[in-house]
Amino acid sequence: MSDHHNRFCLDGRRALVTGGSQGIGAGIARGLAEAGADLVLVARSEERLTHTAHQLRETGRRIDTVPFDLFQTKEAGSLMERIVDEFGSLDILVNVAGTTRRAPAEQVALDDWVKVRCPLGRWGHPGDLAGAAVFLAPPAFDFITGQMIYVDGGWLARF
Ligand SMILES: NC(=O)c1ccc[n+]([C@@H]2O[C@H](COP(=O)([O-])OP(=O)(O)OC[C@H]3O[C@@H](n4cnc5c(N)ncnc54)[C@H](OP(=O)(O)O)[C@@H]3O)[C@@H](O)[C@H]2O)c1
Repeated sequence: MSDHHNRFCLDGRRALVTGGSQGIGAGIARGLAEAGADLVLVARSEERLTHTAHQLRETGRRIDTVPFDLFQTKEAGSLMERIVDEFGSLDILVNVAGTTRRAPAEQVALDDWVKVRCPLGRWGHPGDLAGAAVFLAPPAFDFITGQMIYVDGGWLARF
């Protein structure tokens, strides 16, 4: 196997993808599975999770599903424990679960603004910036150019 392949290979890794049952989350889940990762998908609708998991198993990876409403923030800690107990430790977390509200900003109700805010809740440290640099540097990402990537723990999402 080439060094290039090794640097992108996710064999033996397990990723938790919240919102992985459809849309952007399902797209990212497929990308991770095709790169070799096993997946745990979290969303509310068991039916959609089952459908998406079935499709993703075409990749040959292990795909587990956990129906859960992430608005139940008090139970989120025990959810993580349950997932690790049941499926094993996690290497990758992709948080995509969320709500899309397509409307001009002035027409978005306050409740809907609140639903799409998700800052990380801590100040950054220098090492936090390295990830974005390493992400953009490899030749595999040559076609990403002229983009602004906000490495801010979700700070801008508050406004
Ligand atoms: N699509 C865009 O153009 C776009 C652009 C910028 C940002 N975003 C953001 O990207 C995220 C995903 O967008 P999308 O278009 O892929 O949305 P989507 O198609 O509606 O998918 C949302 C996913 O999140 C899950 N989800 C929603 N609420 C949840 C909850 N309370 N607990 C657990 N899972 C939940 C949904 O499954 P269930 O409904 O079954 O729970 C589904 O899997 C959203 O936060 C959106 O604001 C999207």
